[in-house]
Amino acid sequence: MKLTRRHLLRMGAGAGLLTATGGWNGLLAGDLPLIHTTIPATGQQVPAVGIGTVRFRGNPASAEVSPFRETLKVFHQLGGRLIDTSPNYGNSEAVLGRLLEELGLRDQVFMATKVDREDQAEGIERMQGSFRRLGGSIDLMQVHNLRGTDVELETMMAWKAEGRIRYIGVTTHRNSQHAEMEQVMRRYPLDFVQVNYSLADRAAAERILPLAQDRGVAVLVNRPFGKGELFRAVKGVAVPGWAADFGAASWGQLFLKYIISHPAETLPIPGTSKPHHAEDNMGAMLGGLPDESQRKDLENLMEKLI
Ligand SMILES: NC(=O)c1ccc[n+]([C@@H]2O[C@H](COP(=O)([O-])OP(=O)(O)OC[C@H]3O[C@@H](n4cnc5c(N)ncnc54)[C@H](OP(=O)(O)O)[C@@H]3O)[C@@H](O)[C@H]2O)c1
Repeated sequence: MKLTRRHLLRMGAGAGLLTATGGWNGLLAGDLPLIHTTIPATGQQVPAVGIGTVRFRGNPASAEVSPFRETLKVFHQLGGRLIDTSPNYGNSEAVLGRLLEELGLRDQVFMATKVDREDQAEGIERMQGSFRRLGGSIDLMQVHNLRGTDVELETMMAWKAEGRIRYIGVTTHRNSQHAEMEQVMRRYPLDFVQVNYSLADRAAAERILPLAQDRGVAVLVNRPFGKGELFRAVKGVAVPGWAADFGAASWGQLFLKYIISHPAETLPIPGTSKPHHAEDNMGAMLGGLPDESQRKDLENLMEKLI
């Protein structure tokens, strides 16, 4: 496959040396060049696949959370850094804070969380709670589902100026909020947006992703598997042979590479609570990316299967 300059830049040092391996072959992240996403606001590069932790719930002192500990371990070992959570995901923040501390990884991850209060004082209290529960720095604070956008962004911009958070953003997972998100993107100096985008639902590619590209806003992509819908659609169907051209060894990697290969600075955050799924998802950062015509082939294929 012919890589664009942008893709080469995103793959970082060593890009081009790696032919698609189709798997880790026992290597850890440090041994291989991984595809990265650039945060336009600062130029910081972050490994291009993160993790969503909406299902990280349970008693942090019990065996209930053991699969999450293993998932985080594998995620980090294979090069994952960006973790997305929210105080609205049960006790996910407390679970994450505890497990990352136990694993000695708390200061090695890029932490993104959210706030969704209409009242400014309540929002401040909520964000202070996130700092306590997560037990360390928060890189990105996002307005959850555009709730309380104006008051929360006012606080966040002040906190960013004081150095308490590094980046600010807003999220949605609903197409019905895309128009409002667009207005917010034009009104505020956002570093990130987080939006639903996948081969199951490409609406964000119409306006949100091009606008993010124009305005230099990084994009976290939620529901990258359509909340699992994509896997149900391909059950029993073999991964197409041409996926190997750009190193996709599984359907999951194909779905993630589709998102990463969009020309905006996209970074999918697949939700997983299983170590073997984290391993699969991190593999999407190896090898190349589909070009425009392969992206189109994928869209056509999935339109037939969904
Ligand atoms: N408005 C918002 O801000 C908003 C809304 C929705 C989601 N989010 C964020 O986005 C994240 C992702 O969204 P999501 O979790 O709803 O949906 P998703 O990532 O599209 O799909 C998650 C589903 O895919 C499965 N899965 C993950 N990796 C897999 C693999 N390699 N092979 C097969 N199955 C796999 C998961 O199962 P297992 O758990 O069994 O691996 C789970 O059932 C959330 O965790 C959350 O952090 C934010």
